[in-house]
Amino acid sequence: MMNPIESDYRDSHLTPGKGESYHRQFSDQPYRSLVWEHEKRVFDRILSRDQLGKAFHHLDFACGTGRVLEYFSPRAGVSVGVDLSPPMLEVARSAIPGAEIIEADLTREDILGDRVFDLITAFRFFPNAQTELREEAMEVITRHLAPGGVLIFNNHKNTASLRNRLAQLASRRGFKGMSPGEVEELVSGNGLIIEEVYHFGVLPTTENRMLLPRPLLRRIEFALSRPGFLRNFGQTLIYLCQHKES
Ligand SMILES: C[S@@+](CC[C@H](N)C(=O)[O-])C[C@H]1O[C@@H](n2cnc3c(N)ncnc32)[C@H](O)[C@@H]1O
Repeated sequence: MMNPIESDYRDSHLTPGKGESYHRQFSDQPYRSLVWEHEKRVFDRILSRDQLGKAFHHLDFACGTGRVLEYFSPRAGVSVGVDLSPPMLEVARSAIPGAEIIEADLTREDILGDRVFDLITAFRFFPNAQTELREEAMEVITRHLAPGGVLIFNNHKNTASLRNRLAQLASRRGFKGMSPGEVEELVSGNGLIIEEVYHFGVLPTTENRMLLPRPLLRRIEFALSRPGFLRNFGQTLIYLCQHKES
């Protein structure tokens, strides 16, 4: 049951024009564009290992305006994006004509039937969604993950991050998101195992207030994204998961 004061994340991106304004932030917003650069580097690294083989089938859950779908589309054999927001999908449709873009809420009606995918992605979704929606979405995603397939999703609101710890110290209130423990629970509860975690955003910068000039911050953050012991301090974590028996 949803807490009565909690809003339903399904309603978050429905206003007309939301697609264009959302999409622009990844080029215009200095910190967000840096995080996007990091995400693409991680995708490059995963694809370079050829783990997914050639012409893999890709599903982007909650694809929004399709930025992740657009990255994988030229490299995939089949590209499917699913989202429930018409203004977000309008941008995706014009940006990626080769992809199959479906307007649906799979947690309420699983129109994908028995289709399975070698790669499923879900970005900027889980930490924003309310607990019930996270669980419903992870359950449906897992059902569509092929044996040996890979799920890649992010937690861009890591509540264990240095930024959130400092915010909590300063105001006793941090931001809403997910801790690494909550992510682990969500994943393992659906028979998945976390194989890899990539962190970024160790310094306590926010999108609206960058601590340092962007070129300097960029160099420092890419350096800090390497040592594994800093993982839990990153604001944004990318997880690569597989079925436990894979
Ligand atoms: C912050 S956007 C992320 C878009 C894209 N994945 C990205 O990283 O740029 C979150 C998206 O989740 C979608 N969404 C929320 N609930 C959903 C659901 N139950 N099924 C499909 N999409 C959903 C919203 O419509 C919105 O487009």
